[in-house]
Amino acid sequence: MSAHDTKPIAKMTAPKLRALKGQRGIVAITAYNALSASWADELADILLVGDSMGMVLYGMPNTHGVTLDMSIQHGKAVAQAAKHALVLIDMPFGTYEQSPQQAFENCARAIAHTGAAGVKLEGGVYMAPTIEFLTQRGIPVLGHIGLTPQGVHQFGGFKQQGTNDAARAQLLADAHAVADAGAFAMVVEHVPDDVGAYITQNVAIPTIGIGAGLKCDGQIAVMEDLLGLTAKSPPFATRYAELGALARGAIAAYGDVVRKRGAPSE
Ligand code: KIV
Repeated sequence: MSAHDTKPIAKMTAPKLRALKGQRGIVAITAYNALSASWADELADILLVGDSMGMVLYGMPNTHGVTLDMSIQHGKAVAQAAKHALVLIDMPFGTYEQSPQQAFENCARAIAHTGAAGVKLEGGVYMAPTIEFLTQRGIPVLGHIGLTPQGVHQFGGFKQQGTNDAARAQLLADAHAVADAGAFAMVVEHVPDDVGAYITQNVAIPTIGIGAGLKCDGQIAVMEDLLGLTAKSPPFATRYAELGALARGAIAAYGDVVRKRGAPSE
């Protein structure tokens, strides 16, 4: 019998997550549906309903085609399955950038319709007033700096950020602005390891890295990359299994059995 059979595990919250800085590594994983959320719920601190769903599940070239309705539909399934992890909705492109008021309206809708306990927004210094507006009105915010995928056209591709002195200084300013605005933690994506480490040492809230080195306070992985379900994953993603190959093998075995039906037996 596992400990979980007798003792329910406590629900993770934004304040508890923030307090983990310096205590232990924070485990964050994306989840887009109830099934995968149920696999990860007891093991992860955060389940992020990432807008990466557009590329991973829907075959889009980037995240721009994800709508708030899609995020709400997937978020509801994840939040219903999650008994322990902190469920966060990744706000889609175009739903929060225009003004703090627009952001509040859409974040409140996402939270009310899914049961999630917070949101993630991309952006640094320029997004700080919005983060402050939301956090002062009861919406926990996970920031996201570095390679912010919704800026792919501005960056000219999914490229590593913070690779020269000016860009590093901008990243540090972004990190401080997000923390000072009241975010409970921030994702730091695809920056050199030493930049991830420097930001981690210099901000009071946890950093959750993806392609930002192992010195961050935690790590986030796209579940389908981690499981080896995607055909290709970013260079910084570790594949801990190759379940896509297993799935193809199982489907081929099933196909062989069905095709042989009615054929003369040996
Ligand atoms: O959309 C997403 O899944 C993300 C994480 C990879 C941080 O933004």
